[in-house]
Amino acid sequence: MSRVNFGAKPLMYPQPVLIIATYDENGVPNAMNAAWGITTDFKEITISLSEHKTTDNLAKRGAFTVSLATEGQVIACDYVGIESGRKVPDKFEKAGFHATKSDFVDAPLIDELPVALECKVKSFNDGILIGEIVNVSADESVVTDGAVDVKKVKPISFDPFANAYYGIGEKVGNAFKDGAKLK
Ligand SMILES: Cc1cc2nc3c(=O)[nH]c(=O)nc-3n(C[C@H](O)[C@H](O)[C@H](O)COP(=O)(O)O)c2cc1C
Repeated sequence: MSRVNFGAKPLMYPQPVLIIATYDENGVPNAMNAAWGITTDFKEITISLSEHKTTDNLAKRGAFTVSLATEGQVIACDYVGIESGRKVPDKFEKAGFHATKSDFVDAPLIDELPVALECKVKSFNDGILIGEIVNVSADESVVTDGAVDVKKVKPISFDPFANAYYGIGEKVGNAFKDGAKLK
């Protein structure tokens, strides 16, 4: 094998496409795109964040939701990653999003995105946001036999090598099971 080196960069695939939604001090919803985040414990999510309108809001309201971006909302989801609520106060509306307040945390759910983690801020230090997952909710249209059906959700992933979004592919195996053949 002959390897090509790309240097020290945050290049991994797949990255999730997380849409973080918050309220400002006046109850105006905002959303941003974040690909450098992942669940890090049973009730915990960690996201690498620079300073944004979102971080202003997190400091004021102490809560956020994280929705999975979907194929059907690619344009809106990319838009909220390239425009700031600091410059465009009606960014959420311009994305075509509609907000419904979470029953669990002081943050908006996005009606157009069916799966969301509802979180409280645990800490935000050195650009690392750690959130407590208080609830996970999904629109009933994407739930089959009591579980979220990713074929219905159609979440997208982010490819940082080529700055591209991808849909999900075919199921190729069963976790915690297929490897048992080699035990
Ligand atoms: C694909 C993609 C991934 C992104 N990932 C992150 C991220 O993980 N962390 C971050 O701080 N900004 C990330 N951004 C940039 C923010 O979404 C962007 O700066 C946004 O305008 C912030 O919005 P706000 O100021 O309204 O909060 C990403 C943008 C895109 C398009």
